[in-house]
Amino acid sequence: MMADRTLEILHARLDRAAGPLYLAIADAIGQAIAQGELRPGDRLPPQRQLAVGMRVDLTTVTHAYTEARRRGLLDATVGRGTFVRGTEPVAPAPSAAGAMMDLSMNLPPQPAGQLLRRALLDGMSRLLRPADLAGLMAYRAGAGSRADREAAAAWLRPVVGDVEPERVLVCAGAQAAMTGLLVMLARPGDTVLAETLSYPTFRALAAQLGVRLVAVATDRDGLLPDALDLACREHHPKALYCTPTIHNPTTATLPPERRLAVAEVARRHDLPIIEDDAYGLLPTQALPAVTSLAPRAGYYIATLSKCLSPGLRVGFVVAPDASGAARLATAVRATSLGASPLTTSLATQWLRDGTAAAVRDAVRAEAVARQLVAREILPPSAMAAHPEGLQVWLQLPDHWNRGEFSTHMRRQGLALVPSDAFLVGPTAPNAVRIALGAADNRDALRTALHSVVAAMQDDTPDQLADVV
Ligand SMILES: Cc1ncc(COP(=O)(O)O)c(C=O)c1O
Repeated sequence: MMADRTLEILHARLDRAAGPLYLAIADAIGQAIAQGELRPGDRLPPQRQLAVGMRVDLTTVTHAYTEARRRGLLDATVGRGTFVRGTEPVAPAPSAAGAMMDLSMNLPPQPAGQLLRRALLDGMSRLLRPADLAGLMAYRAGAGSRADREAAAAWLRPVVGDVEPERVLVCAGAQAAMTGLLVMLARPGDTVLAETLSYPTFRALAAQLGVRLVAVATDRDGLLPDALDLACREHHPKALYCTPTIHNPTTATLPPERRLAVAEVARRHDLPIIEDDAYGLLPTQALPAVTSLAPRAGYYIATLSKCLSPGLRVGFVVAPDASGAARLATAVRATSLGASPLTTSLATQWLRDGTAAAVRDAVRAEAVARQLVAREILPPSAMAAHPEGLQVWLQLPDHWNRGEFSTHMRRQGLALVPSDAFLVGPTAPNAVRIALGAADNRDALRTALHSVVAAMQDDTPDQLADVV
């Protein structure tokens, strides 16, 4: 890369107000790498040239390069210059050599290259300046700091529109949000509605709390408003839990007019919606949240788990109003105390400086590529998928029962999830969920999907071999 271009890139990112200048230059280098503008092997301008170009002392640049090297961002070779560090050796794939390939967890695929790793190294080193340590190592109970809530409100704008930060809560992932909400909205013995197939850990949560789940009928597009209306009249539920965008597991996405109809039925019955939008920020064309379509329609949950990484354990709720947010903060405090200040601060930094969008775009690009692999290999008539989603919902041929198929695949070293894991009622379809993001890479995914197709075509299922 030309030295002038590198100068331009670093200049654009230099925040002269952010403490010592040498750290700000190191930060700018880290951001440019995280966002893919500087790539492994790119040569940085000689220190003197950068100093002149940025109008700073030579010693400031020397300190900045030393700091960037300390952060693992740069390599310097005497006589050759300073380069963006190359790709580190990748750890051996756990699924290699006969080990189990686990496609049962709906993980975002790792973005290609070292983007996430670099963003973590750079982001953490910016966070861990001595003055900030005490705040990061303390509790941050309640709804989150003002900065966290503002950053979250801006991130969620494409889906929920403009919301005041007072309505936003930060919590330890969507699971902590739904725990707080279910505790707040329902008591043991109460009924909550959900789609006929629903997120297994929500089912587990309801079971733990003694809350009865009742299924609302769905079709290939998702919830049926008339069925919701009927269920409200029959069961007097305390809430509706639903995933209108890239539903887990069926991948159904509720069309805009149905979103309005669902919001309207909920409003008529004064039914709070718990809208779990775990996948809603993956599609390029964001759809409006159901809870944004009617005033006080309910609680909107988002998470960084599916578009960045579940390791952050950072999720958000948009409450219908500030008092709903305050009530929920009390429930979240009682059930999970609050999100980690360390990862929340990292997330807030990433939301503000564009790193979150860059990582999300890279995750999305890899998800799209994997969906194309799946389309190439799996029978089109059997699969349901969203082109930017993380999973495939696969209908099995009649000669296979989903449970037996999953056991068969597990024996072959491949873990999938049969529909029964998601069942609220009344009957489980003969289908399995395949989490495409969990494969180590596209080649491993190809191998796994070819083995799925081979097994589907085998019409002498091996469970018969076990009968003696
Ligand atoms: C629908 C749905 N909601 C929530 C989650 C979990 O989100 P988090 O990691 O933020 O707790 C998942 C994870 O698979 C999910 O599929």
